[in-house]
Order: sequence, then C-alpha cells, then structure tokens
Amino acid sequence: MEENDPKGETNPMKEIEDPVIQAILGRRSIRRFLQKPVEPERVDCLMQCACAAPTAANSRPWHFVVVDDRPVLDALGEAHPYGKMLYQAPLAVVVCGDPEKNDFARLYWEEDCSAAMENLQLAAHALGLGSVWLGVRHTPEREQAVRHILDIPQGINVLGIAVIGYPDEVKPPHEGIDPGSLHLNHW
Ligand SMILES: Cc1cc2nc3c(=O)[nH]c(=O)nc-3n(C[C@H](O)[C@H](O)[C@H](O)COP(=O)(O)O)c2cc1C
Repeated sequence: MEENDPKGETNPMKEIEDPVIQAILGRRSIRRFLQKPVEPERVDCLMQCACAAPTAANSRPWHFVVVDDRPVLDALGEAHPYGKMLYQAPLAVVVCGDPEKNDFARLYWEEDCSAAMENLQLAAHALGLGSVWLGVRHTPEREQAVRHILDIPQGINVLGIAVIGYPDEVKPPHEGIDPGSLHLNHW
C-alpha cells in the first residue's frame, strides 16, 4: 500500500502485480532442466529462504542435504520411482526433520519442513530457477533408500526432495480459486 493510497483504491489490481504475489502464482513444478549449474550465491539464497519458514514455537527441526554431486544425484534418481528428472538436474535439496528436537518438533516437524520446502520452491522460482517437490515421507522404502545414499542418521526423517535447476520448460501460472474450495463464514 502506498502512503497516499492506503486502501489501494487507485489500482485495485496492484496487489497482483507485486513480485512476491507473482512468484507465488507463477510457480509450477518443473521437471526439465538445462545443463547449467546453480551458482553458489543462489544456493545460499535458497537455503536462507528455507530457513526463514515459520515453525511451531520456532523449533526449527529441519536439516537440509544439498546435493550437487552427479553420482549422488543419479543415485537419488535411481532410488525414486518418480524422480527421473534427477538425472538431468544440477541440484537437489533433501529436506529432513528431527522429531526428537523437542516436543513441538515431535508434533509439527512435517508442517515445519513443508513450509521450508515451499519457501525453497518459491525462492527458486523468484530467482529464475525451476523446481519440483518429490515426496519421500510415507513411503518407507523410498525413505530408506535416500537415508542409505546420503548417510542420514536413524531418528532423522526425510520429508522430500526439492529438485532444482534452470528450467528447460515453460508452464502457465496458476489462476483463480479452486471452485468449491472457498467457504465464507460457514462451510
Ligand atoms: C507432497 C508432494 C509430493 C510430490 N511428489 C512428486 C513426485 O514424486 N514426482 C513429481 O514429479 N512431482 C511430485 N510432486 C509435485 C506435484 O505433482 C505438483 O505439485 C502438482 O502436480 C501440481 O503442479 P504444480 O506444482 O505445477 O502446481 C509432489 C508434490 C507434493 C506437494
């Protein structure tokens, strides 16, 4: 909101032009990547954004394994039945959670780590990168394979993998509100 237009009355669509709103609306799952590495400064920015996510009682139960080593990326691609884009992608961030960190982490590590994952994806899009979230949680054989490849200790859970790189595909942004999903005051 501008000082002289606190209600945004002169341009009712101003909010939708905001770069943060544009990043949220424009993010799509990208599964084709250019053979171009992600610069270290951008990786650092992504990880700062992941760590800026909200967590229950600020418990921050996450751990991130940043993977840019080709054989390790390929091994993850081999392990994940829907993760073949890992063979092409230059970067992956494996998002893990420590449920034993404290009582809040025990209850909320999945929500906390999902918020970090979403921040990663939105930040990637804002930086001109593409990403896709690969689910690992709730499939014990996938989680076991990822744990083995990355030496993740027992007791640390794996939420999922953010596969990241410069996009080699273009997708239209999401638009609108899902019909039937919106309820006003009462269901
Ligand atoms: C928990 C979760 C698990 C997912 N697992 C996979 C996956 O294993 N492979 C994949 O290609 N996409 C996966 N996705 C991405 C979804 O398919 C994608 O978000 C959905 O189709 C909507 O498309 P959009 O991200 O472009 O809006 C996953 C997304 C979430 C949130």
